[in-house]
Amino acid sequence: MKYGDLVQFEPIETVVQVMETNDYTEDQRLVQTFVISERMAEKIRDIAIPHLQFNEQKDNKALLTVGNYGTGKSHLMSVISTLAEHAETLEMVQHAGVKKISAAIAGKFKVFRTEIGASTMPLREIICQGITGYLETIGVEYTFPPMDQVTNNS
Ligand SMILES: Nc1ncnc2c1ncn2[C@@H]1O[C@H](COP(=O)(O)OP(=O)(O)O)[C@@H](O)[C@H]1O
Ligand SMILES: [Mg+2]
Repeated sequence: MKYGDLVQFEPIETVVQVMETNDYTEDQRLVQTFVISERMAEKIRDIAIPHLQFNEQKDNKALLTVGNYGTGKSHLMSVISTLAEHAETLEMVQHAGVKKISAAIAGKFKVFRTEIGASTMPLREIICQGITGYLETIGVEYTFPPMDQVTNNS
């Protein structure tokens, strides 16, 4: 008998590439395979979803995920953004509680995924250029006012 006869598993990618791919099949796979511990479920329920949802006026803030290499940050980001964009992926969530709570954001967003590499370009330019480029892909023509004509970016 071989070890392979005893253990069956899905081979995993070493890291999740959230940004480079624009691959809905891969996004669905990431939702299906995301293992959600009770602690992770709590974080999603108490922090991620309340800040992202816009049905109720909350003190919504940005989210920052911190963790060592390979701990699942990209996988988590991918799952949340896929749920936010595609309501039908809710059914693929493995954790009943997270599935329920995620209904608050499911399908309610257009998601622009980006990554910033080494750059000396002002952050505002990087973000505005990225958003303009993304909007073009969904048929929306929009450019931001030039930096020297804006007194407040908030
Ligand atoms: N909760 C999880 N359920 C299933 N696979 C996971 C989970 N967390 C991490 N992984 C897997 O571990 C690997 C590393 O995760 P990744 O999101 O790329 O890490 P990070 O972005 O934190 O460096 C990937 O293959 C990912 O699919
Ligand atoms: Mg990563």
